[in-house]
Amino acid sequence: MQTADIRGRWLDFFADRGHTVVPSASLVSDDPTLLFTVAGMVPFVPYLTGLVPAPYPRATSVQKCIRTNDIEEVGKTPRHGTFFQMNGNFSFGDYFKEEAIGFAWELLTTPENQGGYGFRESELWVTIYLDDDEAYRYWRAIGVPDNRIQRLGMESNYWSTGQPGPAGPCSEIFVDRGPAYGADGGPATDDDRYVEIWNLVFMQYLRGESTGKNDFQILGDLPKKNIDTGMGLERVAFLKQGVENMYEIDQVRPVLDRAAALAGRRYGADHDDDVRMRIVADHVRSSLMLMSDGVMPSNEGRGYILRRLLRRSVRAMRLLGVDTVSLPELLPASRDAMSAAYPEVKSDFGRISQAAFAEEETFLRTLASGSTVLDLAVAKTKKANKTELAGPTAFLLHDTYGFPIEITLEIAEEAGLSVNRDAFDVLMTKQRSLAKADAKSKKTTLADLGVYSPFRALGETVFTGYDNLRNESTVLGLIVDGESVTGAVAGQTAEVILAETALWAESGGQEADAGLIVGAGYELKVLDVQKPVRGLISHKVLVLSGEVGVGERATSVVDESWRRGARQAHSGTHVLHAALRQVLGPNAHQSGSYNKAGFFRLDFSWNQALSPATRTEIEEISNNAIRDNLPVTTRELPLAEAKALGAMALFGEKYGDVVRVVDIGGPWSRELCAGTHVSSSAEIGMINLISEASVGSTNRRVESLVGLEAFRDLAAERALVSQLTSSLKTPREQLPERISDLVTSLRAAEKKIAAFEARALTDRVPALLSTARRVGAVTVVAEDLGVLGSPDDLRVLALATRDRLGTDAVVVALSAIAAGKPVVIVATNTGARAAGHKAGSLAKTVAGILGGGGGGKDDVAQGGGPNGDAIPAALQAVVAAISR
Ligand code: SER
Repeated sequence: MQTADIRGRWLDFFADRGHTVVPSASLVSDDPTLLFTVAGMVPFVPYLTGLVPAPYPRATSVQKCIRTNDIEEVGKTPRHGTFFQMNGNFSFGDYFKEEAIGFAWELLTTPENQGGYGFRESELWVTIYLDDDEAYRYWRAIGVPDNRIQRLGMESNYWSTGQPGPAGPCSEIFVDRGPAYGADGGPATDDDRYVEIWNLVFMQYLRGESTGKNDFQILGDLPKKNIDTGMGLERVAFLKQGVENMYEIDQVRPVLDRAAALAGRRYGADHDDDVRMRIVADHVRSSLMLMSDGVMPSNEGRGYILRRLLRRSVRAMRLLGVDTVSLPELLPASRDAMSAAYPEVKSDFGRISQAAFAEEETFLRTLASGSTVLDLAVAKTKKANKTELAGPTAFLLHDTYGFPIEITLEIAEEAGLSVNRDAFDVLMTKQRSLAKADAKSKKTTLADLGVYSPFRALGETVFTGYDNLRNESTVLGLIVDGESVTGAVAGQTAEVILAETALWAESGGQEADAGLIVGAGYELKVLDVQKPVRGLISHKVLVLSGEVGVGERATSVVDESWRRGARQAHSGTHVLHAALRQVLGPNAHQSGSYNKAGFFRLDFSWNQALSPATRTEIEEISNNAIRDNLPVTTRELPLAEAKALGAMALFGEKYGDVVRVVDIGGPWSRELCAGTHVSSSAEIGMINLISEASVGSTNRRVESLVGLEAFRDLAAERALVSQLTSSLKTPREQLPERISDLVTSLRAAEKKIAAFEARALTDRVPALLSTARRVGAVTVVAEDLGVLGSPDDLRVLALATRDRLGTDAVVVALSAIAAGKPVVIVATNTGARAAGHKAGSLAKTVAGILGGGGGGKDDVAQGGGPNGDAIPAALQAVVAAISR
């Protein structure tokens, strides 16, 4: 049974039983507590917690998921994939345990020719949570014998995402692969022989923060009892396809075969090689899927996880004996295996492969330079007769050169060395806890969001502000310091929830509107507008005057000039995006944007700087589009229709069934976008690109001013130029040449001055020579020079004087107030040092007297201190020390 068939049977089965089929959400989770979609239930969390009313009582999906916490297991067990697909059925306060168990059993045991999966009842086992007698009863009633039901503890039979949120006891279903795969005794004893395929979670509690490894508090009941189930599509596929593991199924095996062919090794011939080929097959597929959802390699967050996957696969290829690039072969193999289920991996392949190939090349270069560092460290360790490479070296290689520790271990081992793993681990733990603390401080907790749920239950906030900049509505709620209140008075800041609003909430890259909310006897200044939970708009306000209360009428008023600027900026972003793609091609894809009145910034996938000519071309195409006064139209369409029209969708953006399409000049620019726009392109006024820079190795960022701001910036530049033309008395066109001439003559003048200064300094040497006197067998010069430019000048003079006093013992001690501070430089020659007079210790004597510090080498040293009056005494002390 092909993977696509297993998927189709699933969706048909649950659709027939009243479930709404929901398409897979992005791998990039929009849940602020999770980096990735780690389970089928993630997109439904707001419905499970009751924060947002579920739009349907039951749903089913086949969800793309990424989990990397078991990355070390990949390739070693039959069932650990970093990317996998989870078939799920969900009930939001509708059916519960009995029906969930009934559905699962029916689908699994219905014969294949009747639409089911055709597992034999005798090969199925189930586990339940320790005291879940209810689940036990349902399983027995359906025909599962007592000896194939096992009770297990919290660690395996209580499920949550690992973060605060919905949780509940669960019941898992396993397939026995037979005695050839391990010992008898059921899932409790062996998880290779008994493969878990389906987890039924009876989602009924809200969990809090972790209190231990597998421990967390239960904060209370969820508003409703829900069902969340997850069946591992890859696991069922490998069991149904009669292969040994998930890496050999139809969607993965082609990559494995490609890796084997590139390495010239046979899959199945050597255990270690097999593991490596499976790692490659898994990681290449995961990378492809992550990149198709807009993740790009980087050093933090999601991008780092992608980078790690790509690098681990490069490393595995290297261990298979392939030192050259391999992704150009492997990635297309994965694309071809996945594109039937996910057409976007094909249509977006240009963009994806460009970034993936660049990453592989960078890493191969990194490997080369890191290897040099590692070779040096190995040589040094051996020279010191040590057998262990230091932990910090391994950490440096990891942190700076992106060497997975395994590579360091392997190369060290080849050289006969071990690695101080403990020291490495300590450094890693330290770095991780820093990262964690950082992540924590940025997190919004579910408890914080609970305050919004009663308001969200009243329905979505309606945004009425596309055309009307005023709206009269009702205050549904007020929140002060996280608590729902009934009123707020002048001077307080509060959050206001309205039934309808004309004010735009920050989203889709567009900054929140500025404006006011006014009503009978009060006036509120809007500080920010956000959507804290899906569908709900909250206005953060300062009460300027009066008192506002829940239930009162309220008029939201958008600041007109702000909104005009915001429209110009948002439409400007679309225009520039279209111009970029016209010049650079379809691989330049927007990866992020931000716009507010007068300004916008656009990030796009591209891995080299734009030349000035390219920049100008893009700017000109944009301004031509503005001049052409292209009509801007918006319409609402079903998502599939909009995509068929070629509308560009953005990554990480959640689109509903019906989307808004914004056209500028018809298809010239066609994007899915909810933002506010001008009605024809000429209203944008002007686009003025002010910067272009890199963000990470795979993205560029352009920033631009629009409308009046663009003009003002150019006007300021013109004022600057006219200042320059008048002060330099040079026409505008000749300014660059004139300035470069000035710089050249300035450099020449500086050189001359430096030469004069040096000569002036050495001119003082003869006078100093004449003060030389004998102290015992030593020729001594000890003079104060008054005020001097810098200690360096003093040092030059001391050395020049010393060198002209011959080869018998010479000590020169010169003092000055240099750069405003009392300084003494002591210089000795070989003869003096042989007689035991060392500059360093003489400088210390001096410093002691000046009340500061000093020291240096034997031949020349410096001392100083705040006590300038003691300079004569300090010089005398030098002489005294020599005479002793
Ligand atoms: N959320 C549960 C899991 O991931 C069931 O879907 O196992």
